[in-house]
Amino acid sequence: MALHLSPDLRLFSTIAIIFILVQVPTSVSTIDAKYENCSTPFLCANLENLEYPFWGAGRPEYCGHPVYELNCQGEVAEITIMANNYGVIYRVLEVNNDSWTLTVAIEDYWDNICPRSPVTGTIDPRFFNYASDTENVTLYYGCPSLGNDTSVLLPLKFNCSPEGTDINNYYFIWGDDAANSMLTGHVIAAIRIYFGGCVRNVTIPGRLSAFPILNYTAAANVSEALREGFDLQWNANNSFCDKCKNLGGLCGYDPDIDEFTCYCRDKPYPLTCSSKGTSHLYFITSASLSFRNITGLRFSIFLILMLYSFV
Ligand SMILES: *[C@@H]1O[C@H](CO)[C@@H](O)[C@H](O)[C@H]1NC(C)=O
Ligand SMILES: *[C@@H]1O[C@H](CO)[C@@H](O)[C@H](O)[C@H]1NC(C)=O
Ligand SMILES: *[C@@H]1O[C@H](CO)[C@@H](O)[C@H](O)[C@H]1NC(C)=O
Ligand SMILES: *[C@@H]1O[C@H](CO)[C@@H](O)[C@H](O)[C@H]1NC(C)=O
Ligand SMILES: *[C@@H]1O[C@H](CO)[C@@H](O)[C@H](O)[C@H]1NC(C)=O
Ligand SMILES: *[C@@H]1O[C@H](CO)[C@@H](O)[C@H](O)[C@H]1NC(C)=O
Ligand SMILES: *[C@@H]1O[C@H](CO)[C@@H](O)[C@H](O)[C@H]1NC(C)=O
Ligand SMILES: *[C@@H]1O[C@H](CO)[C@@H](O)[C@H](O)[C@H]1NC(C)=O
Repeated sequence: MALHLSPDLRLFSTIAIIFILVQVPTSVSTIDAKYENCSTPFLCANLENLEYPFWGAGRPEYCGHPVYELNCQGEVAEITIMANNYGVIYRVLEVNNDSWTLTVAIEDYWDNICPRSPVTGTIDPRFFNYASDTENVTLYYGCPSLGNDTSVLLPLKFNCSPEGTDINNYYFIWGDDAANSMLTGHVIAAIRIYFGGCVRNVTIPGRLSAFPILNYTAAANVSEALREGFDLQWNANNSFCDKCKNLGGLCGYDPDIDEFTCYCRDKPYPLTCSSKGTSHLYFITSASLSFRNITGLRFSIFLILMLYSFV
């Protein structure tokens, strides 16, 4: 069936086709290789749709930021966060692009809340911040027996051995002001002295809302609470990355010069794409995508002519 185009539409389509024939070949041949290689989000164990600042598992380092390398070998993605030459392995339970946060749980406590050499959960504050619901949770192991235990600490007790023999362990959140305001100064002082008699302690971050301390009558299942993990916000030149994405770029990092880089269709830029070159190509692409029927054609021509008047 022949298409009967109205004269103005015929003119528009001629212009559009010439425009596309002239523009598209040059744009295709100049797509930057790193832009292309970073353009599809990647998969890592339990996580999908990952992008900057993460990399690992075959995803090139230049598509991410050096600090945010993921280990994707097991069933759950892991990240090692280094601070003062001390690395802590975290399970990455969730990633949220929009708020730049990841939910992590310390690997060492996942299967055993009483590890032989408990690690503390330090982070590097240059690259991560704790979310507001995160608080320091101190675990006290091997505390003195209280005999018939009726103290306020009873609900905070946890068991290290399944057989129930290693029972004198407690958690306490010194920074939980809401809970601690229910205790008098004398009681707090007594608790501090009592914990001084425990064999060892470790302080790790936890999600405060996973450790509900209701008037020291109900408390958390420590194992479950630690498995909820806590949120960290990443700090990987986030504001640069937003600017880069806004102009159609892909965030990355140039390991050679140790700096943030914005990969654009034509080439990498230090901060963001040159708006002229890239929005141009971007519009061509989106216009071609809607080039499916006559209405789409007319719309494409409209977009292209609009664009033409800007360039
Ligand atoms: C992009 O990925 C391809 C295929 O994995 C690889 O051969 C090529 O070297 C990569 N390009 C760059 C610039 O890393
Ligand atoms: C992250 O954002 C990109 C778009 O910016 C989206 O395609 C992707 O699905 C998001 N990933 C996750 C895990 O939300
Ligand atoms: C835990 O305590 C350490 C040392 O006082 C502090 O640097 C850190 O910010 C605290 N963590 C949280 C989640 O408040
Ligand atoms: C514990 O309580 C029981 C009965 O309530 C009592 O017989 C026992 O003497 C108490 N033991 C200690 C160490 O207080
Ligand atoms: C943990 O134990 C050390 C020494 O055993 C002690 O100095 C420290 O105050 C304890 N930490 C907390 C939070 O109770
Ligand atoms: C805590 O519980 C005790 C007894 O169960 C009660 O007398 C007290 O008023 C409660 N305190 C608060 C702050 O709810
Ligand atoms: C805590 O939760 C774990 C995992 O759900 C469960 O196996 C364990 O029995 C619970 N412990 C207590 C004391 O309820
Ligand atoms: C990106 O962040 C790092 C660490 O915060 C900082 O040293 C660097 O200057 C930032 N990059 C740029 C281009 O400003």
